[in-house]
Amino acid sequence: MAELTGTGTPGAEPVGATPPRTVPADGASGHPVPGTGGTSRRPVSGAGGRSPGAGGRPRVRWWRRPWVGPLAVVALAFLAFSLPPYLSLDPSLSRVPLEGGFAAYYPMLVAHVVFGAIAMVTCGLQIWPWLRRRHPVAHRRIGRVYVLGGVLPAGVLGLVVGAAGPFGPMTQVSSVILAALWLACTVAGFRAARRRRFADHRRWMIRSFALTFSIITNRVWGAIAMIVLMPQAETVFGGSDIALIQTVSGLAAWLGWTTSLLLAEWWLERGGAAGRRRAPVPARG
Ligand code: HEM
Repeated sequence: MAELTGTGTPGAEPVGATPPRTVPADGASGHPVPGTGGTSRRPVSGAGGRSPGAGGRPRVRWWRRPWVGPLAVVALAFLAFSLPPYLSLDPSLSRVPLEGGFAAYYPMLVAHVVFGAIAMVTCGLQIWPWLRRRHPVAHRRIGRVYVLGGVLPAGVLGLVVGAAGPFGPMTQVSSVILAALWLACTVAGFRAARRRRFADHRRWMIRSFALTFSIITNRVWGAIAMIVLMPQAETVFGGSDIALIQTVSGLAAWLGWTTSLLLAEWWLERGGAAGRRRAPVPARG
């Protein structure tokens, strides 16, 4: 059985901690990632997209994780579309209506968008298997930026802009719950890494990832809801633009993160007890 220095999957290393010395490459170190085909307890072979890479490491072929490229493209497209109006610092370009908001609402929204972008970019890097495997130190550093310079500030600001949002109570409640869950899952993942509980770290960070990227599924649901409900503007919504917008926004807000989180739970549980089997016991000392 091949041996790896550090963890079989570098992403499993604790934030700010000395990596374990030697662990088996059979996955006992845990922390397989989305798209890697699950636990590396499976035999390492060229079949099914796995083959021994340099130094005997299991190298996962690109077709086993076809989500990496599309995810990066979608995230960059979202940021390229979403960021510029807020980076201009011109309130008249805000896509969120500002009328009726308190004075600090706009600066807080801009800060939320900037920290949210940091969270999205760093999260995308963190789940990239190649980076975790080949650059474990970068994984730990980027992880700290994700938590401390992305999710924490963006989530706390999300709580405030969410509670004060202009799209009605359905969206406000959803945003506050999402922000709280985002903070909770991310902090739980961070703490688990520091305590070297890598299976827990993996599970919480996959949930955190799902919530970070739920801002994108939110927009997809919003577009679908608008297409479906627009023709009913005069009937179901009695010609009220406010009723239509609040319904579309509320549906997008709730469906955005609930479906993403359900998908993450399915991913974690797929194959029965696969996730539980991965509980890692990193070598110490
Ligand atoms: C996951 C937790 C998040 C929560 C709870 C949250 C909450 C909010 C809220 C409440 C607003 C104001 C609009 C509204 O009331 O609906 C907003 C706007 C915005 N957020 Fe977030 N957000 C989150 C994550 C992110 C992430 C990761 C990004 C990535 C860049 C992001 C980018 C934006 C942008 C660009 C806007 C401005 C609206 C637009 O122009 O489309 N948010 N967010």
